[in-house]
Amino acid sequence: MDHFLYRDGDLFAEDVSVAEIAAEVGTPFYLYSTATLERHFRLFDEALDGIDHLVCYAMKAASNQAILKTLAACGAGMDVVSGGEYARAKAAGVSGDKIVFSGVGKTIDEIETALSGGIRQFNVESEPEMEAINAVALRLGVVAPITIRVNPDVDAKTHAKIATGKSENKFGIPISRAREVYAHAASLAGLKIVGIDVHIGSQLTELEPFELAYNKVAELTEMLRADGHEIKRLDLGGGLGIPYTRSNEAPPLPVEYGAMIKKTLGHLGCEIEIEPGRLIAGNAGIMVSKVIYVKEGEDRKFMIVDAAMNDLIRPAMYEAHHDIVPVSEAEAGVEQVSYDIVGPVCESGDTFAKSRLMPPVVAGDLIAFRSAGAYGAVMSSEYNSRPLIPEVLVKDGDFAVIRKRPSVEEMIDRDDVPDWF
Ligand code: LLP
Repeated sequence: MDHFLYRDGDLFAEDVSVAEIAAEVGTPFYLYSTATLERHFRLFDEALDGIDHLVCYAMKAASNQAILKTLAACGAGMDVVSGGEYARAKAAGVSGDKIVFSGVGKTIDEIETALSGGIRQFNVESEPEMEAINAVALRLGVVAPITIRVNPDVDAKTHAKIATGKSENKFGIPISRAREVYAHAASLAGLKIVGIDVHIGSQLTELEPFELAYNKVAELTEMLRADGHEIKRLDLGGGLGIPYTRSNEAPPLPVEYGAMIKKTLGHLGCEIEIEPGRLIAGNAGIMVSKVIYVKEGEDRKFMIVDAAMNDLIRPAMYEAHHDIVPVSEAEAGVEQVSYDIVGPVCESGDTFAKSRLMPPVVAGDLIAFRSAGAYGAVMSSEYNSRPLIPEVLVKDGDFAVIRKRPSVEEMIDRDDVPDWF
């Protein structure tokens, strides 16, 4: 459930009319709902009720300071994958002991920043990285808390570009080598083993792959404990999928996911961490755009809008589906029209949807791309010299621009021209 609903035919975000925001901010823009962000966070938090846990929001999904502050105020920890994300989490007031650091390529600088600023744990992805963290910790005279990310070799049954838990993927160490690698970690004085980490992919629409992976983690926990390691924490990654369309079957709910976690891992007495990104932010955001032209092709109609693949890359990159709806609802009974919905960027990949049935639109009409809150603004670029689009946050009856649209001059000013011109 989200808070983008029609009232008397006009799309609202909580208690604010989307058309009113568009009139003030200009299109295109991203629009998030505070109530939806909070609700989604609580669904996870409550799903793990009764078990010691921390929900670490995977801030790669949407990392605006206002979004981080909203979630931090609910008690969220953060899952970061770069020095930039670490700095953003700290800037939003999240303390180091609630930040976990994931990712296959942490640099010496990033490790040093996190060790100096405070870190709950590094999720280590390889032995060279383990050695590097150990060396930095010894140099700084501290001990680095670590888990090791194991690759359980299960099929996440999701898009190939976002599956991470198969042995051919670059992530983690093979679970078959875990005992050997944990023994190695235990021999390094700069490291303290605190648990195990696993993350098998994103936009999973079934519980089964998670369950297969978590059962393997349960088995491994017992084995590592028998080897004398202290395993007090299990980081289970993110990945629970969201409904991108109202028509297809809904993925499992957080409460069902939580019950499965308790069933597979509850008996171990470990603290549980999860790293959801998409489920928290995805349906808490929309992208609002304006129709520039309706162009009659030979055998199709093109709806040319002012947002493009540089603003929302998911359809071009993953063939992702986003529901696209008019901001002013059509009257009941209006016949739908088939459109190819495209942006102004000069490549055919700049297509949001093909043969999409929608009520008829004319130039100037506003449309909204649903489920755009996660992996939307964060993946945008200035391709075709299109300035990054603004982000707006709604809370009840108020809205605020939380990242403003840079001017074209500002964009050009970031270039430096050498003095030989
Ligand atoms: N933890 C780790 C270690 C991850 O790599 C990811 C996502 C997450 C947590 C959060 O997963 P989520 O709950 O959001 O599924 N750009 C792609 C998605 C990439 C996901 C990468 N890792 C997309 O737009 O679909």
